[in-house]
Amino acid sequence: MQITVIVAHPNPHSFNHALAQTAIDRLTRNGHNVVFHDLYAEKFDPILLTDEISEKAHLSQTIMLHCKEISQAQGIIIIHPNWWGQPPAILKGWVDRVLRPGVAYRFVEGDKGEGVPIGLLRANTAIVLNTSNTQSERESQVFGDPLETIWKNCIFDLCGVKTFYRETFSVVITSTIEQRQEWLQKTCRTLDKYFPKI
Ligand SMILES: Cc1cc2nc3c(=O)[nH]c(=O)nc-3n(C[C@H](O)[C@H](O)[C@H](O)COP(=O)(O)O)c2cc1C
Repeated sequence: MQITVIVAHPNPHSFNHALAQTAIDRLTRNGHNVVFHDLYAEKFDPILLTDEISEKAHLSQTIMLHCKEISQAQGIIIIHPNWWGQPPAILKGWVDRVLRPGVAYRFVEGDKGEGVPIGLLRANTAIVLNTSNTQSERESQVFGDPLETIWKNCIFDLCGVKTFYRETFSVVITSTIEQRQEWLQKTCRTLDKYFPKI
């Protein structure tokens, strides 16, 4: 399968990058074709300007490539830290610019944009791996776990991706090496489940 892996973390030595490398290695080992983007390393421009909003807009080579890849992806893996209950701005901008009308969703005939769109993504499965420094009970009870709503409902369900799995590794800041190694092993087990050896 062709699987897109996106990481959004400025530090290549972060645990987020360890998760990304683990995902790339495991998926490759399982016989999949990985398309990888490190948004910070590539200096992805997250700003969606007026001219690009329309479905018929002229797109830059970079955005066209991202759109083509995400359309072709049979699986999608997104890795990022929890920043204010949201993805880092660079990744939010990737969503704004790449998950475009005509690429990730479209409105039915006669709908001016007020209705429920049809998802267009080919991928059957999306996995989101997050890190945070908040206990999961507090994230749910005090903040309502906004990343679950954003990725599951607002993005992947709307874009037609049927199977969604999300995991938050927390608390990172006080975690031991052993704990992090266990989290990486758990990630391998998750990937084996959703994207087994072919
Ligand atoms: C701008 C910013 C905002 C953050 N907001 C939150 C937050 O809302 N909740 C939380 O648990 N951690 C928050 N954090 C902490 C990060 O989630 C944490 O540093 C990261 O998940 C650790 O992973 P890493 O070692 O790969 O950086 C924030 C960090 C930064 C830099």
